[in-house]
Amino acid sequence: MISLNIYKLLHVLGILLVFSSFGALVLHALNGGTKATNSGRRLVTISYGVGLFLILLGGFGMLARLGIVQGGLPGWIWLKLVIWVVIGGLMALPYRVPGASRSLWLLGPALGLLAAWAGLYKPF
Ligand code: HEM
Repeated sequence: MISLNIYKLLHVLGILLVFSSFGALVLHALNGGTKATNSGRRLVTISYGVGLFLILLGGFGMLARLGIVQGGLPGWIWLKLVIWVVIGGLMALPYRVPGASRSLWLLGPALGLLAAWAGLYKPF
């Protein structure tokens, strides 16, 4: 049986993969790079995808171990799921809107902070 801590580690690994990939992508776009000139594109895309998957796997695994899911998901999990979808979608933006790269550099971590806050404080 996979333990709570293993699920937590998978959750954190997913977060690390997603945010390092996002930073790489934003910096590339900030330097005027395009999809075609990104020689690490495959690596970034795979890391992003695997990272998103691990966040979800670890998240739902922890929910099961903590016995939190009883007749529906609590509000803080819905908030995290929305943030997860938005962070997944952010990947498309650096090349499409290169002018937004500096804002994206801050927006990504801000959303991550919000998701972490929701997980730690479970406000609703
Ligand atoms: C990018 C999105 C996310 C980020 C950055 C994030 C971040 C975090 C962090 C930092 C923690 C605290 C770990 C600790 O207790 O030491 C946490 C806990 C948790 N997260 Fe996430 N999370 C995200 C998405 C999700 C999603 C989508 C789910 C649900 C499917 C989820 C479910 C949980 C659960 C159940 C906990 C454990 C709370 C507890 O220990 O009581 N997270 N998350």
